[in-house]
Amino acid sequence: MVTAMKIIYSSFVILYHWLEAIVLFFTPKRLRYKDVSNDIVLITGGGSGLGRLLAVKFARRNAKIVVWDIIESNLNETKRMIEENGGTCAAYVCDVSKRDEVYKTAERVRKEIGDVTILVNNAGIVNGKKFLDLEDEKMIKTLNVNTFAHFWTCKAFLPAMRQKRRGHIVTIASVLGLSSAVSVSDYVASKFAAVGFHGSLSLETYFDGFPELNFTLVCPYMMNTGMFGGVKTDILPALDPEVAAENVMSAILTNQEFLIIPRLLYVTYVMHTLMPLKCFKIIFELFNGPKAMDTYVGKKEKKNLNDKKIE
Ligand SMILES: NC(=O)c1ccc[n+]([C@@H]2O[C@H](COP(=O)([O-])OP(=O)(O)OC[C@H]3O[C@@H](n4cnc5c(N)ncnc54)[C@H](O)[C@@H]3O)[C@@H](O)[C@H]2O)c1
Ligand SMILES: *[C@@H]1O[C@H](CO)[C@@H](O)[C@H](O)[C@H]1NC(C)=O
Ligand SMILES: *[C@@H]1O[C@H](CO)[C@@H](O)[C@H](O)[C@H]1NC(C)=O
Repeated sequence: MVTAMKIIYSSFVILYHWLEAIVLFFTPKRLRYKDVSNDIVLITGGGSGLGRLLAVKFARRNAKIVVWDIIESNLNETKRMIEENGGTCAAYVCDVSKRDEVYKTAERVRKEIGDVTILVNNAGIVNGKKFLDLEDEKMIKTLNVNTFAHFWTCKAFLPAMRQKRRGHIVTIASVLGLSSAVSVSDYVASKFAAVGFHGSLSLETYFDGFPELNFTLVCPYMMNTGMFGGVKTDILPALDPEVAAENVMSAILTNQEFLIIPRLLYVTYVMHTLMPLKCFKIIFELFNGPKAMDTYVGKKEKKNLNDKKIE
């Protein structure tokens, strides 16, 4: 029951956490980095882009790395980069859009490497077409990779985390998981879903009595990884993936719960929520939003590979 005492007490605790957040904001994050040298870090989509950069950065901090991807040659390259620097990396070809494959590969990882303690759900795909031009199967694929895969990996690895009371789940979503755009309806749906899933799972885990398990939600703006190759917006230049990866690491290593990169977009996130849609449309148009995807080409070689998987 809500009593006056409870409300007063809770108000003080809330105030305390606000003040704590403000103080922490002004203290150097490096001082609070956690040690990951006893962690097994699994990164999906670790064969390129952000996933590979994170794998290399975790390896430098002496974590054991496990990478999953659909492109074997890219996995081999990530593994080579890590081992060249004295790190440990196990690579598994696993299509995360296939539930059975996720469960089977997870079992292999458990047996061959051990219990994953940091799970980074990073694999993602985009079609970049107007809704009516999207093939049904490709929309389903987007949801399978960007959303459902998170269900299956969490099903596979969360139980051991709960049992050991040690673990960290990282969701790489997108600013398109918080705010919409044009020609990405399936992608936006998949990222909003991933954001919602992450939030619910983190609350549930906490109130089930596992406050030791950490959750980090990352929503990056466009990065120069090729995934959104050709896209032109006038709001901000695409992020350097190296800078983005460094920011993501910093958030993970300090158990930060939510990260939007670049920080400036916290403002647009709040504005979008507070402002009438008519106003948002004007701003969206001002920055070339409606036409941004018209020049989209993406990554040719990867797109073909995903096409093959569907047929
Ligand atoms: N690049 C951007 O502009 C941008 C912006 C915001 C969020 N993101 C998100 O960041 C994450 C990483 O993206 P990136 O920019 O590094 O792109 P990327 O294409 O370089 O990397 C994604 C990786 O996932 C892999 N992958 C694709 N389908 C898979 C499947 N079915 N199973 C296993 N692996 C699969 C790809 O082979 C690739 O190696 C994605 O979730 C993406 O949605 C990207
Ligand atoms: C990746 O590495 C494995 C093990 O060394 C090797 O068997 C395989 O042929 C390599 N694959 C590609 C595509 O390079
Ligand atoms: C994160 O994990 C640490 C233990 O490593 C724990 O003390 C802390 O409460 C967790 N933080 C959150 C926000 O759940």
